[in-house]
Amino acid sequence: MNYRAIKGTKDILPSETSRWQSVEQIIRDVFHRFNYKEIRTPIFESTALFARSIGELTDIVGKEMYTFQDRSGDSVTLRPEGTASVMRSYIQNNLGEAQPLVKVYYLGPMFRQERPQAGRLRQFHQFGAEATGSPTAETDAEIIALAIEIYRRLGITNYALKINSVGDEECRPRYKEILRAELKKISDKLSPESQKRIDQNPMRVLDSKDERDQGLTAHLPLIVDYLNEECATHFQKVKSLLTAYGIPFTVDGRLVRGLDYYTKTAFEITSTELGSQDALAGGGRYDLLVKELGGKSTPSVGFAAGMERLMMILEKKGFAPSDNTPTLFIAVADESAREWGLKTAMHLRSKGFKIEIDLLQRSLKSQMKEADRQQTKFAIVVGSTELANGKALLKDLSKHTQQEVSLDSLHQFLQ
Ligand code: HAM
Repeated sequence: MNYRAIKGTKDILPSETSRWQSVEQIIRDVFHRFNYKEIRTPIFESTALFARSIGELTDIVGKEMYTFQDRSGDSVTLRPEGTASVMRSYIQNNLGEAQPLVKVYYLGPMFRQERPQAGRLRQFHQFGAEATGSPTAETDAEIIALAIEIYRRLGITNYALKINSVGDEECRPRYKEILRAELKKISDKLSPESQKRIDQNPMRVLDSKDERDQGLTAHLPLIVDYLNEECATHFQKVKSLLTAYGIPFTVDGRLVRGLDYYTKTAFEITSTELGSQDALAGGGRYDLLVKELGGKSTPSVGFAAGMERLMMILEKKGFAPSDNTPTLFIAVADESAREWGLKTAMHLRSKGFKIEIDLLQRSLKSQMKEADRQQTKFAIVVGSTELANGKALLKDLSKHTQQEVSLDSLHQFLQ
């Protein structure tokens, strides 16, 4: 074949979509229980929005964005994440005017040109939520609890929640200077990637994946010990609320997320059921972003989670999607019944039933084979005799029983 899906992208096939839809429905339901409303933003935005929000020096902006010039010469980018777009929309549409706290969720494709591997795609799907307008630790704890509740509802128990505080614009620069000075002392032993980060983003050195780096930096000071009073109190409150909610967590002082907008709380949910790409979800507080993008200073917190990684686990666990198979297969025994069959199928569908009828003019035998293959609950065979009598045999394909039914009142039997 000449055409194949682009590397790192994947078809979600008809055999898989039932599971996706069932999972998405549970996710939406949990969001609704927490009173988050869906927002749908465009899939591409101006490049500057992401560069400004996520940070020029991050891997996402530096090497992973799908950026191109459109025909009018504007630089646009396929969204690599949802937060920047949601905040752009919040400001542009004045969403904060009508209510002090805006709680929204989203589900949809995101794009990053990373090296594809198990659980890492170039087009992947996220679900996520953002709460904008509240500085309180209660809001951080709600966002974390919301993410955890989704996994609980889906029967996922094998996960770990790691939290950290990355400080604010007051205490973080102070800590960064201390860390930078320490890193400079060992700089020649660090990986080239980490060496580059010392000046620009020293905290990222702490969550380097390189084992040698990890050993070398194991004893270095952590930001949790350098928080100012406000950040420390906030962090303490988040932790005690999580404990009150019965949500287990560990504090990981080295957790620094790969996006630059975070302040105070940062968290990640990982699963041992995934391979090296073990992050199911991540998020945190980002109090400076709305102002950075030109809005009024508005504290915010949110999270996003990968759908494909979640589906990998659910597939392993044999998560059963809700049933989408047709209730009735209408099989026509001869030409005279075909139009009746087609019309009846339309009528029953309008009454809310899932009906299948052959569109390939197949023999009665092949129609019955097809009904078996599709595992429809019932099948009915109608030909000229049945039409003349106004009655036919309704077969229950799973119980292997049958009963005579009146063709006029089929819907009553299907109920
Ligand atoms: P993130 O950590 O970059 O955060 O992404 C969140 C989740 O998306 C990851 O934990 C992972 O499950 C999934 N993910 C990321 N990249 C890929 C990929 N290439 N293939 C498959 N799955 C992937 C954010 O995106 C932030 N916007 C989260 C946030 C919302 N913070 C505050 N509000």
